[in-house]
Amino acid sequence: MATGTTSATPETPSSQPPPGRGVRSPGRAAIEAPHLRTDRWWLPPLVTALGLAAFVAYSTWRAFADAHYYAAPYVSPFYSPCLASRCTDMKGGADWALFGHWWGLSPALLVLVFPLGFRLTCYYYRKAYYRSFWSSPPACAVAEPHAAYSGETRFPLILQNAHRYFFYLALLVAGVLTYDTALGFRDVHGDWGHMGLGTLVMLANIALIWAYTLSCHSCRHIIGGKLRHFSRHPVRYRLWNWVGLLNGRHMLLAWSSLVSVGIADLYVYLVSSGAFDDPRFF
Ligand code: FES
Repeated sequence: MATGTTSATPETPSSQPPPGRGVRSPGRAAIEAPHLRTDRWWLPPLVTALGLAAFVAYSTWRAFADAHYYAAPYVSPFYSPCLASRCTDMKGGADWALFGHWWGLSPALLVLVFPLGFRLTCYYYRKAYYRSFWSSPPACAVAEPHAAYSGETRFPLILQNAHRYFFYLALLVAGVLTYDTALGFRDVHGDWGHMGLGTLVMLANIALIWAYTLSCHSCRHIIGGKLRHFSRHPVRYRLWNWVGLLNGRHMLLAWSSLVSVGIADLYVYLVSSGAFDDPRFF
């Protein structure tokens, strides 16, 4: 008989909402304060939010600008590969005009979906914007304001699992941008042997884009995952170690490549609009 026994369930403080599936779950510590941290835990998510918002604002303006995306021999990474007939006036860069003149919007909108999808579903960026924009959670040991938590098991967040496929597409885009960078060694007449400041900007950008792409967690799994014995796969083991070195700097590479792609586009914009002359070394 249960008569006379006491309940093992801890009491819920009256100021807190009823038990849910999140941090108010019955099994969690019943602490009234939202957190016990005394440091400036809010600073990293705030800086992250400002940085991401600045890039979103700049890239949105440039994506819809539909102008100043080519300054021979440089092509803005926001507009490459060219997939619309209306941007084939670029005398360089990858030109696959799959969309005819009926496409009246900016050609960047056809391209940016690939790198955007790659970054939006990236494990690091997910953590960054979940914390910064949704407070889910805002920081370690700081309770999130949401009563329930379903993770990435439901629509739309279940779509985050498409990251591996965006990785394959990102490889293609990085290949195209590598081609564009090589064309930066040609002058305006198409002769090889040119180098300007823009060539270096494009080189730095493509190096960071490759480093970020190859540091992807999906890439690391593709190379080293599903193996029973590394000793029988020495090449994959070596590659896995290299990718692991990059993977340990994934956050740094995510930010540096984000900044570099913005700088590369801004450089093309400034040269194309006449605000700046590309200094030529030879
Ligand atoms: Fe960040 Fe794949 S996990 S790009």
